[in-house]
This record gives sequence, C-alpha cells and structure tokens, in this order.
Amino acid sequence: MKKTKIIDRNSFLKYAEKYGTPLYVYNGDLIINRYSELYNYITWPKLKILYAMKANYNVGILNLLKNNRAFLDTVSPAEVHLGLKLGFEKEDILFTSNNITDDEMHEVKKTGVLFNIGALSSLEKFGSVYPESKVCIRFNPDVYAGEHKHVQTAGSITKFGVLLSEVDRVLEITNKYNLKVIGLHEHTGSGIGETEKVYESMTSLLGIAKRNLFPDLEFIDFGGGFKVPYSPTTKRIDYASFGKKISSIFSNFCKEYGKDLFMYFEPGKYIVAESGHLIIEVNTLKNNRGRLIAGTNSGFNHLIRPLLYGSYHQIENISNPAGEIKIYDICGNICETGDCFAEQRELSEIREGDKLIIKNAGAYCYSMGSIYNLRAMPSELLIVNGNELLVTKRPSNKELAELVLSGSNLN
Ligand code: LLP
Repeated sequence: MKKTKIIDRNSFLKYAEKYGTPLYVYNGDLIINRYSELYNYITWPKLKILYAMKANYNVGILNLLKNNRAFLDTVSPAEVHLGLKLGFEKEDILFTSNNITDDEMHEVKKTGVLFNIGALSSLEKFGSVYPESKVCIRFNPDVYAGEHKHVQTAGSITKFGVLLSEVDRVLEITNKYNLKVIGLHEHTGSGIGETEKVYESMTSLLGIAKRNLFPDLEFIDFGGGFKVPYSPTTKRIDYASFGKKISSIFSNFCKEYGKDLFMYFEPGKYIVAESGHLIIEVNTLKNNRGRLIAGTNSGFNHLIRPLLYGSYHQIENISNPAGEIKIYDICGNICETGDCFAEQRELSEIREGDKLIIKNAGAYCYSMGSIYNLRAMPSELLIVNGNELLVTKRPSNKELAELVLSGSNLN
C-alpha cells in the first residue's frame, strides 16, 4: 500500500486563500488507504467492505471509491439513486431500509438493489408485494456499543432490527412469501471502542445462522462502527489484530456451517473521518470576564458533532502555530449559545484573521450540515495525489437567497 501524503499547514493556508473559508478539505489518498487496509487486516478471503455513504456523500469521494472497486451501504432512496448514477452496479449496493413509506419501497425495489429489512411489518409488506425476492434480514444482536447513546443501534432501547427471539416470525413470513434470505445483518453502533463488543455481537448473529434456518444464505453483514481516535489521547485500535480475530471467528463459523459465506462490513467513519478538515477563519475576539472567545465564520450548521454528541474534534491555529498557548472557546456565527466547536481549549494565540483547522471532519460533518440561519454550506475540496478537485462550490449569500426563493411556490 502507498504511504499516504499528509496535507501540510502551508497547503491548508494556500487552499484557504485560493478557495475562501469556511472550506472542507479531504485527503483522498487517505480515504483509499483506509478502505484498502481493511482488506489487508481482515484476512477472510470472501470479504466485502461496503462504504456507508451516509458518512459523506461527496461525489468526488464516491467516484474515488468506485474507481477503487468499493461497495456501497445506502439508507435512503436518494442515496441509492446517487450510487447508481455514479456507476456503482446494483449488485454492489445494499439498501438498509428504516421506516420507509410504501412509495419509497417501490421506488427502491425498481432499481434492483438488495433490501436489508429490520422490522417484521416491513418484511410482511415487502413479501406480500414482492414474493420470491431475495432479501437480507437485520437483527438486533442484543449487544450495543458506540461513542454516544444516540449512535448505539442495538440492545433494548433502539428502533433498529428484528429481535433474535422473533426469528420464528421471520421464518413464517419468508416461507409464506417464498422470500430467499441471502443475508443476515446487524449493526451495533458507531465508534466502537471495545472490540469485545464486536466479537460478542458477531457471535450473537452467527448463533442465528448456525441454526440452519435459512438455506440460501450467501453473506453475513456485521455493520460498521470502526472507531477512529478523535482526541490525541485516544488510543488507536489495533485493527490488524482485530482483523485476524474476526476472520478466525468467521472462519470457525463457516467450518461448522459447512459453507464459506461472504463476510460484509459497512464502515463509514473509519473510511472518511480522518481525511476531512474544516478550515475556518476567526473574525471576532472577545474577552468575557476572562473567558477568551474566538468567533469564527462557520458554525454548528457546518459541523454539528460537538453540539449533538459532545464530540471532541482537534483544532489547530494554522496561522500562528508557534504562538503562546492560551485557552479559548471556539464559537460559530449561528444565533444559538450552543454554537461552539470547543470550550476551554488550549490553542496557540489567536488573532483576528487567523485560520483554524478542525480535524477529523470527514465523517458525519458535511453530510449532517444544513443552511440554518440561511448560511450556505462550505465548498468542498478533494485532494488526490496532490491534485485539487473543487467538488462542491459554496453559493454566495445572494445565490442562497435565490435558491430558497426558487424552491418556493410563492415566487
Ligand atoms: N451500517 C448501518 C446500518 C448504520 O446505521 C451505520 C451508521 C453504519 C453502517 C456506519 O457506521 P460507522 O462505520 O460510520 O460508524 N452521526 C454519528 C454516527 C451515526 C451512525 C449511524 N449509523 C456520528 O457523527 O458519530
């Protein structure tokens, strides 16, 4: 595997100058390395890594992954359409449905992608309209993990998946409509720090597979959740050992099962988080009774993770790296008090006009963004092998106002 080129401070400053701020910058080489290294770590040969495009649907990133033969995990009809339009084959896309309408079900079924269904009533509906289809069933493995309670997707308090104890109901429905269950699925949560939880949830789902209830099984999908270190003190998980361990769990299962199945994973965060940086500019400094507040030209509409999950993102003052260390609240320009990227954070001295970078901003940052307060989303720049690709261009304030008007029936 090629060693990934790091984007240095001067390049960030150059991009900020050239494209303006706020600006998202993604390191495409790192994305490809992260995607490919999982194939090296997980030694089970029948392996598919499906990129969870909800983490970042940037078209440049999707193209890059497609050119590297990636598979896709999708969760909405528009994600499916986008993947297909970009040239991903329908066989390479899995659609994990979640409280979809009948119209959405028909819309996605027409595209020919495989459904992953996690509710008995949806399975019943799907089977009655599309008997004899192939399908994947999402179970709740009764093991939950993840870096915040909002991103834990299994266990007692979750809307996701069919309970393991309801497997007989699944069988009744699939038999009634001659559905071919070719896959079993689970997803425990996002940013899983305790690898044991992954082994436990795998064992739990494989327990269902071992009962030989589904003779058409082709794959088992263990979801996403691979953790990346957001703070400098968080230890990086040894994914090489992890890969060996899960491969051995799976290979033992296949031996007992009597058939070599495919193993799927669906990472989003792991593939793109570390590739992303949000460059912002400080425009207002304030000393609020001793509390230093740096006001910037971005906000939680561009990067909501700190506000929504209390997430930590490293921040660096790239304009004054050798400045005296001081403690700041780094805030945005949105009219809400919670609009801060970091509170009481040590940073080298900030002057008005300085550029800061917010790191690990490649996953669930742009994709969870909005135009709240009618502030446009930033431009997005993808760097591949030193080449700059401006994938998304930020509309001007006037253009944004016009977009709102043109979307209204009243204009
Ligand atoms: N598969 C399924 C069925 C999922 O629900 C998810 C994420 C993934 C795969 C990918 O998980 P990942 O590898 O990215 O952890 N907005 C949150 C994360 C929400 C994840 C939702 N589901 C955050 O910013 O931390």
